[in-house]
Amino acid sequence: MRAFAPVMPVKAVWRLVDSDPALLAQNAGAGTTTHKVDMRNLDDLPLADARLVTASALLDLCSHDWVTRLALSLKDRNIAFYAALNYDGIMTWTPADEDDAVVTAAFNRHQRGDKGFGPALGPDCASAAADIFSKAGFSVTEAPSPWRLGPAQAELQRQLCDGIAAAAAEMDAATAGAWAARRAGLVLDGHCHIGHRDLLALPPGFQ
Ligand SMILES: C[S@@+](CC[C@H](N)C(=O)[O-])C[C@H]1O[C@@H](n2cnc3c(N)ncnc32)[C@H](O)[C@@H]1O
Repeated sequence: MRAFAPVMPVKAVWRLVDSDPALLAQNAGAGTTTHKVDMRNLDDLPLADARLVTASALLDLCSHDWVTRLALSLKDRNIAFYAALNYDGIMTWTPADEDDAVVTAAFNRHQRGDKGFGPALGPDCASAAADIFSKAGFSVTEAPSPWRLGPAQAELQRQLCDGIAAAAAEMDAATAGAWAARRAGLVLDGHCHIGHRDLLALPPGFQ
């Protein structure tokens, strides 16, 4: 919503959709309506008269089947789709740590677990969504949109590493906790690059 504001030719009306009422309340404002919806049921999405659907940091949770059904539903209604922040499975840190690779691999395995939509696409979400929307007849454009965090985002880096380590530990990465503790000690010098891609999909003949 914030990213589109400067480039919209007309003032857009946004329908904010999530299952988390607190997140909806945080983002509600002028020109918005909020919709507490369980998106597993695509028929519950408030799509009447919509021209564009956007999603942010969502597709990694979703299954191939769900994204396929979403693409077909949007095509039927001639609605464009912009999905931002699709995790691509590649995380790099400087300075490097001996457990970066093992923690990343365990985190990526965790990503593929069912988050309610069926087997999650996880790190494949960007490439899978591009393939699904292309095959459904959309014109697809992709670009990298990595998170780049440095010393100015020290607290965010700490929280991010704790979250990554917690997921990796659930996948039996025994060194994940120690890895997060070492990373926490490096945030005032270190940088991380968390790979994401954005995707724009325009239905056939979209104006
Ligand atoms: C990684 S967060 C992204 C949140 C927000 N879009 C952003 O970019 O900050 C994933 C979001 O998906 C929502 N979510 C997960 N499963 C859902 C479902 N079945 N129906 C609706 N929302 C769901 C969660 O509540 C959470 O807010």
